[in-house]
Amino acid sequence: MKMEQQRGLLLSFVGVQLLLMGAFHQSHHLRDLTSFLRLLIQDRSEVSPPGTSQQDVYSNLSQIHPVDVSEDDLPNCPIISPYVNGPLKVMFPENLTMEKAVEKNPLVRLGGQYKPPDCWTWHHTAVVVPYYGQAQHLQQLLFHLHPFLQRQQLHYAIYVVNQVNNTAFNRGKLRNVGFREAMQEENWDCVFFHDVNLLPEDDRNIYTCDIFPAHVSVAINKFNYKLPYQGYLGGVFALRPIHYLRINGFSNVYWNWDDEDDNIATRVKLSGMLLSRPHLLFGRYHMLEEGQDHSQKQSVWRFGLRAWIHQRWRHDGINSLGYRLLSKERHPLYTNLTVDINFQNPEAPVPNRGIWRLRESF
Ligand SMILES: *[C@@H]1O[C@H](CO)[C@@H](O)[C@H](O)[C@H]1NC(C)=O
Ligand SMILES: *[C@@H]1O[C@H](CO)[C@@H](O)[C@H](O)[C@H]1NC(C)=O
Ligand SMILES: *[C@@H]1O[C@H](CO)[C@@H](O)[C@H](O)[C@H]1NC(C)=O
Ligand SMILES: *[C@@H]1O[C@H](CO)[C@@H](O)[C@H](O)[C@H]1NC(C)=O
Repeated sequence: MKMEQQRGLLLSFVGVQLLLMGAFHQSHHLRDLTSFLRLLIQDRSEVSPPGTSQQDVYSNLSQIHPVDVSEDDLPNCPIISPYVNGPLKVMFPENLTMEKAVEKNPLVRLGGQYKPPDCWTWHHTAVVVPYYGQAQHLQQLLFHLHPFLQRQQLHYAIYVVNQVNNTAFNRGKLRNVGFREAMQEENWDCVFFHDVNLLPEDDRNIYTCDIFPAHVSVAINKFNYKLPYQGYLGGVFALRPIHYLRINGFSNVYWNWDDEDDNIATRVKLSGMLLSRPHLLFGRYHMLEEGQDHSQKQSVWRFGLRAWIHQRWRHDGINSLGYRLLSKERHPLYTNLTVDINFQNPEAPVPNRGIWRLRESF
């Protein structure tokens, strides 16, 4: 009873906030409202305990068929997709190959793009995956994520940003490249930055954006389905393009460090926004083993760099991005963007290692 009241209060609070925000986000108002309604209804439905009645991620998808009307005459997709059901199994056929994954997803178009063939959706989501040669993880991600997104009746595409040259992995910069290239192709209204080794375990974790940037992978099996620490922002992160520009994207200067994620929190905060997170029961992920774990790693650079961010985030991000696109290939299940990220933007304020050293002593 008490809980019910609290929930009611919370919901009305969110509702008021949403309306206020709506005044500032006129064009997004309707979409915000639909995702809000979605949340409401999800919240009311029984939350199935994890581990019970997990469905195959491909179940029900064979019911989706193209209909014989023009795109303009398609009915609107329902607010809640009828295929969204709850907990999903994470499993793969023996000897999974890319061909098999392609065969299972006949409605996905070249480049890894999909639109519900039988209804018209409000939601246009780009999924950007930084990639550094984890071929098997990529195969498994594509096998799992395509049906997951189709269950949600979204218009989406998957962009894999492939770093070449034998330098350390720079996830922030690859995310920036993915954002820029994706936005040149379509007017996406939501971008999901997605680690290649995380597979969502519940399809009520809807891949759309709300009124704030969101940290989505809140409950990873490896961390016993809770946050490893409160400030953890790794894994899957989503936001609207307008918010992405507001935080100036991600830092380009973190080579091989997961600390880059702390940087995101700082950027969101300094640009005056809040961060949202899904319910722990929905934001569940299965992590494919990587062999090494950076999540708890404390970097000696950390504190110095953090101080540095406060001063530099406006100059280090999408506005200082330099790279060379070496190729763009459309594969059946993804678009492969191959980039040389060592290339510097000659017009950008080049990050100066000297500054880091100086700050390190703080
Ligand atoms: C989806 O499939 C399950 C069984 O696999 C079935 O119980 C359920 O009714 C189906 N849902 C829809 C919307 O068809
Ligand atoms: C998978 O590969 C192994 C080794 O190549 C083979 O022995 C096995 O029969 C394969 N399984 C299936 C289901 O194709
Ligand atoms: C990176 O690799 C590409 C293609 O292999 C090459 O053209 C480019 O010069 C390399 N860049 C650097 C900085 O090594
Ligand atoms: C992406 O394209 C590059 C260049 O053709 C290729 O070397 C690389 O293997 C491709 N990566 C993937 C994941 O398809």
